[in-house]
Amino acid sequence: MSSIGILGGTGPAGRGVAIRLASAGYHVVLGSRDGDRAAQVAETLSPRGDGTIAGGSNEKAASCDIVVVATPWDSAVATVKEFKSLLANKIVISMVNALAKEGRELVPLYPPRGSMAAQIAFALPESQVVGAFHHLPANQMENLDSGLEADVVIFGDNDAARTQVAELVSAMPGLTAIVAGSMSLASAVEAFTAVCISINIRHKAHSYVKLAGLAH
Ligand SMILES: NC(=O)c1ccc[n+]([C@@H]2O[C@H](COP(=O)([O-])OP(=O)(O)OC[C@H]3O[C@@H](n4cnc5c(N)ncnc54)[C@H](OP(=O)(O)O)[C@@H]3O)[C@@H](O)[C@H]2O)c1
Repeated sequence: MSSIGILGGTGPAGRGVAIRLASAGYHVVLGSRDGDRAAQVAETLSPRGDGTIAGGSNEKAASCDIVVVATPWDSAVATVKEFKSLLANKIVISMVNALAKEGRELVPLYPPRGSMAAQIAFALPESQVVGAFHHLPANQMENLDSGLEADVVIFGDNDAARTQVAELVSAMPGLTAIVAGSMSLASAVEAFTAVCISINIRHKAHSYVKLAGLAH
């Protein structure tokens, strides 16, 4: 089974993805700027199944077969650039959303290349960057008993990489992979996260994305 590293894996988003990847049998490294802290966080997570979760440095996470970027948006590009050579010729999954709080709403921010996934792809020309996991609620992801049945919208310019990410997502409990298309969709996918979170704030809800009309 492939190893999956998560840059910034100690946050809610990274932990939620880690526990469901490990429950699908993957060996996950939660990366952090502080490897000891990541090891402590990893010990608190109890996946089901044959996978494992270990904590370590972001460098150790970047050394895995596939790498997820789960840092805040404003540190994502600097973080991936630091490990550019380790990330070359690998699939790098961006789940990063650039958002700002405006009153009771979250609003999307637009980086110079239109999306965080495109910024990361520009910073990593030798990697295959794929977008996924943007709309998932971290708290429900981390709780394997939450009843989460969410769709994961996947995009990127490399067909083989998108397909591999879709296979990985399909193995994760509670998630359905939906390949949407190319990197051109990134800004729309990322911006829609602001809609999801604003709906949840307004309606005091924990809703998530499930598309109707698709034959699964
Ligand atoms: N939360 C969600 O429900 C959710 C869902 C989908 C997507 N996302 C996206 O996933 C990403 C992470 O979300 P999150 O809520 O987990 O964020 P977070 O808790 O704010 O940050 C995640 C981790 O990033 C590391 N980090 C923080 N500042 C950093 C910096 N300046 N440089 C490098 N690393 C830094 C920290 O780990 P260390 O201190 O251990 O290094 C932190 O634990 C965001 O881009 C978010 O938009 C979040």
